[in-house]
Amino acid sequence: MAEQNGRGIFITLEGVDGCGKSTKGRYLAEELTAAGREVVSLRDPGSTEISERIRAILLDPEVEGMVHECELMLFEAARAQLTREVIMPALERGAVVVCDRYCDSTFAYQAAGRGLSEQLVRDANAMGSCGLAPDRTIVFDLEVDESFERATRHGTDRMELDGEPFQQRVREGFLRLAAEEPERVRVVNAHGEKLEVYARMRAELIDLFPELGEEAV
Ligand code: TYD
Repeated sequence: MAEQNGRGIFITLEGVDGCGKSTKGRYLAEELTAAGREVVSLRDPGSTEISERIRAILLDPEVEGMVHECELMLFEAARAQLTREVIMPALERGAVVVCDRYCDSTFAYQAAGRGLSEQLVRDANAMGSCGLAPDRTIVFDLEVDESFERATRHGTDRMELDGEPFQQRVREGFLRLAAEEPERVRVVNAHGEKLEVYARMRAELIDLFPELGEEAV
């Protein structure tokens, strides 16, 4: 476990588009910062200059005809840069890293969603993550009709163009990962009030952060 290795703690937040993970990530960062931790909040793809440029290509709805293999490698390229430039140094300093999406998104979107071979995606993830794995991953789970409406209310990015059946496969991909790795990957019901969902998420993390009390503030 992270602490025993004398490094920080790596948390990733996952789920279909519009599941509400980013808001809860902010609550967690605020609470841990108030408890005296250094918290580094990141998004994948993104959070370095190179990774943000790759992100812009990946999400631009005017980019047409991108083949699945190209998409996969761009996500992994952005991730490798983020991992070596920011995540690894932060963990070495002992910080808590809270990252919005990581390798599990690639499994859910590029393997379960797009239909690329699972083994190919797992191998690509090993490269993109430079061998790093999260200590805990929260999957915010929500019915796709609800999440997709939320996600596309203010516009549609390239990844959202494929619509609900694609998002449904992605949701199932996340649930499958949670079943495969129940210790690391925890599913949180994303229905309900923000603070209610946050409390559910917090309960799945509390063992990693003894400085947080039992009750959310
Ligand atoms: P983002 O704005 O981060 O999505 P959201 O705000 O909905 O979380 O956009 C990232 C999009 O890229 C999202 O649709 C998920 C997708 N994605 C992949 O397809 N593969 C990946 O490996 C990652 C990290 C994201």
